[in-house]
Amino acid sequence: MDKTASPAEYPDQPALVRYPAPVLRRPAAAVTLFDAQLAAFCQRMFAVMEDERGVGLAAPQVGVSRRIFVTDHARRKDGEEPCPRVWINPRIVSPEGTTVYEEGCLSFPGIYAKVKRHDRFTIHWQDLAGAEHSENLDVGAGQFLGIVVQHELDHLDGTVFVDHLTAVQLGLVRKRLKELEKTYREETGKAGSPIRR
Ligand code: CO
Repeated sequence: MDKTASPAEYPDQPALVRYPAPVLRRPAAAVTLFDAQLAAFCQRMFAVMEDERGVGLAAPQVGVSRRIFVTDHARRKDGEEPCPRVWINPRIVSPEGTTVYEEGCLSFPGIYAKVKRHDRFTIHWQDLAGAEHSENLDVGAGQFLGIVVQHELDHLDGTVFVDHLTAVQLGLVRKRLKELEKTYREETGKAGSPIRR
């Protein structure tokens, strides 16, 4: 599925797109209109994320090239209270330190690998009303959300977690990437945008 929503349009029934869909490679455009359509779309993104049992979902993962992602980092553990959050036009400033975490991605089913991320940073974003917020996150202090937002923010720049892997790590997941490429070809009749390295 290679849906490329026009800027002001959000799908009524967003569906997860998987590697190697080209939309996952496209830098997403800023959100400039904070209207009811945006809010309704974010609710539909939460539904997709829950169906797929994810802790985060970026708009390009449902074919919408806009700078939006949703998270619910508490879903990682059973029994924790849900913590659904919407992040619009997010950006990270003042990153410090590095940390390594084993990540997966709904658009890369069956692939998990350790990725190097910033340990501490400040994230700025807008809410559904367009109001600005900021928060300091510290992965080393136990804030798993700090990993999730870095992974999701990458999606808005057309970057996927597999891009961060070393050649050796990539070798270990190559077979699975080829399987996903084959599935995509069978479903769409297109090659998409496979990783070439
Ligand atoms: Co992802």
